[in-house]
Amino acid sequence: MALTGLFLCLFLVGHLLGNLQMIFKTGEEGKRIFNEYAYFMTHNPAVMLLSYLTYFSIIFHAVDGIALLIQNRRARPVRYAYSKPAANSSWTSRYMALLGTLVLVFIATHMSNFWWKMKYTTEVPLHSYYSQTAQDTLYLTHKGEQITTAQLRLIGETEGTQLVMKADKMNQSIEKEFDAYVKSNQLSKEQLVELENAKKKQIRKEDEVLGEGYKDLHTVVMQFFSKENKSESGLPYGLIGALFYVLSMCVLSFHLWHGFSSAFQSLGLNHPKYTPLIGVIGRGFAIVVPLLFAIIPVIVYFKS
Ligand code: HEM
Repeated sequence: MALTGLFLCLFLVGHLLGNLQMIFKTGEEGKRIFNEYAYFMTHNPAVMLLSYLTYFSIIFHAVDGIALLIQNRRARPVRYAYSKPAANSSWTSRYMALLGTLVLVFIATHMSNFWWKMKYTTEVPLHSYYSQTAQDTLYLTHKGEQITTAQLRLIGETEGTQLVMKADKMNQSIEKEFDAYVKSNQLSKEQLVELENAKKKQIRKEDEVLGEGYKDLHTVVMQFFSKENKSESGLPYGLIGALFYVLSMCVLSFHLWHGFSSAFQSLGLNHPKYTPLIGVIGRGFAIVVPLLFAIIPVIVYFKS
């Protein structure tokens, strides 16, 4: 439990730094940077390995925690006749299982909000942005190409994250172009045959992937916590979401308050000089990390 707990603390630092980009970089630049970051996080093999380790740690930490709770209850089926827990333990240490369960509920809800949507649904739109110079909305692909929506409307479609040129649409557009050219020019028989041959060469037999687009996770997060996110009956989903995140971060803070230093103790890393320092670092961590996580939905909500 101690090892998985400490690994999850490392995950929290990485995840926090990634998410803070959302409020430090704003506008189109911020959107691009965050979506490129999210792409890297879900495609880089080393990071993907860390992700699997994170999922494993969450499950192991939770299951082991429940097993420990059951073991403790079994070890003392009859409660102490005289018990004054406040005298020798803090309340956070006594409610670790409850706090941990609430954190788990948060993680499950949180992952279904973003991670599930991103990985297993087509609900996340592709990253697109308006370009003044092209006077059109462009899709940015991860190879750096830019594909206009006008082009795509004419000859292609989006399929998952792929921007695909459809053979039938492309051929229709070629036919149209050639017909228009023939109509507006007086061509000889030879020229017509030549043109027909040129057209045949351009006709496509298969669809072609023009590029792979970025998923616009940035917009999904921004809309999730926005004032405009309301149910049909007017329920302020954005506000409820932000409050849920802030409350969950309070719970996480209490869980870490005891958990951080307790992990070192469980590993037997006790030292008269360093143990008090670990206690201070642990309490600092328990305040700063959840606090920084909590300000993200609050800022997004008020700026929306
Ligand atoms: C304001 C706070 C937070 C925001 C805006 C946020 C946002 C996100 C987003 C957009 C994703 C999906 C993208 C990705 O897979 O990288 C994600 C994944 C995840 N989040 Fe958060 N997150 C927040 C806080 C937290 C906290 C406090 C925890 C844990 C207690 C957490 C645990 C996770 C986990 C486990 C994943 C899956 C990571 C992976 O697949 O590697 N998140 N989060």
